[in-house]
Amino acid sequence: MDGVITNNPALDMLVVKDGDTLDLGGRELSFINAPFLHWPDGMFTWSPQDKTLFSCDFLGCHFCEPYTFDYNIVYNREYELALRVYFDAIFAPFKPYVVSGLEKIRDLDLETVCTSHGPVLTKNCRLSYALEKYIEWSAPLPAGPKLIPVFYCSAYGNTGKIAEAVRSGVLDALPEANCEIFDLNYQDMGEMQALLARSSAFAVGSPTINADAVAPIWHLLSHVDAINNRKRPALVFGSYGWSGEAVPNLTARLAGLKSAVFGEGFKVNFVPSSDDLEKARELGSAFAASLRAESK
Ligand SMILES: Cc1cc2nc3c(=O)[nH]c(=O)nc-3n(C[C@H](O)[C@H](O)[C@H](O)COP(=O)(O)O)c2cc1C
Repeated sequence: MDGVITNNPALDMLVVKDGDTLDLGGRELSFINAPFLHWPDGMFTWSPQDKTLFSCDFLGCHFCEPYTFDYNIVYNREYELALRVYFDAIFAPFKPYVVSGLEKIRDLDLETVCTSHGPVLTKNCRLSYALEKYIEWSAPLPAGPKLIPVFYCSAYGNTGKIAEAVRSGVLDALPEANCEIFDLNYQDMGEMQALLARSSAFAVGSPTINADAVAPIWHLLSHVDAINNRKRPALVFGSYGWSGEAVPNLTARLAGLKSAVFGEGFKVNFVPSSDDLEKARELGSAFAASLRAESK
């Protein structure tokens, strides 16, 4: 890797490995491998004399007030929000690595953490808060009924009717499932994205408008965590008038995100007939039954 990242092979570099130490003259740094926190080759650096950890982004956030240390933070609520946003964006896809990173620093007598981004964290101020939150946010989700949200948009209610029928079908096959429908025009997108990230499976429906799916649906999918979305089952549906691109376009996007897309999706021409709604219900049922089979 010498010179690869800097693109400067002439740079005089010392490559350190997990457990190596480096004497700076009265101060010895030791290195702790911390993969994916947040680069594949991430490393913590520990200075025992200073009881200071250079955490290479871990516990950090994009937050800046005029002073360096956490005890000078004025906008505490904003700091907490920034810590959460940074965790969600950078570390949430790598929760098992967060757990192992926390384990690696558990026995260090931490007084200060320099995170590379955001305020320096200190023992008597925000450090324990940040550590507690990382423990909480990286914990595996408790087991419960399957969470299968149905997301949709609908200009004239046609895709909305299909969404209702899909939901009924899901509940026919899995009555204990937590399956609600969400019209994205009336929902907080951050909450919807978090819901999708927690889901066991999901369905998504869009009408075709000007040869594509509609913007709120793309917005939802643009925030899918592509690492943890792998193999998450998804069902696509929508009403169309003449060309019907929404369903194939969404299907292609979800396949790109490595979702386990169920079948080819379900398209209905304009207003769904009672036959169409029965088919949508059967499809929802088959989709849910495939989840039951999968978890056996
Ligand atoms: C402005 C506009 C553009 C549309 N563009 C397309 C299109 O490109 N291809 C298509 O198949 N249908 C198109 N349609 C038809 C809709 O997909 C159709 O009316 C559908 O039933 C709407 O479903 P909804 O009630 O769920 O919104 C368009 C409709 C409107 C109003």
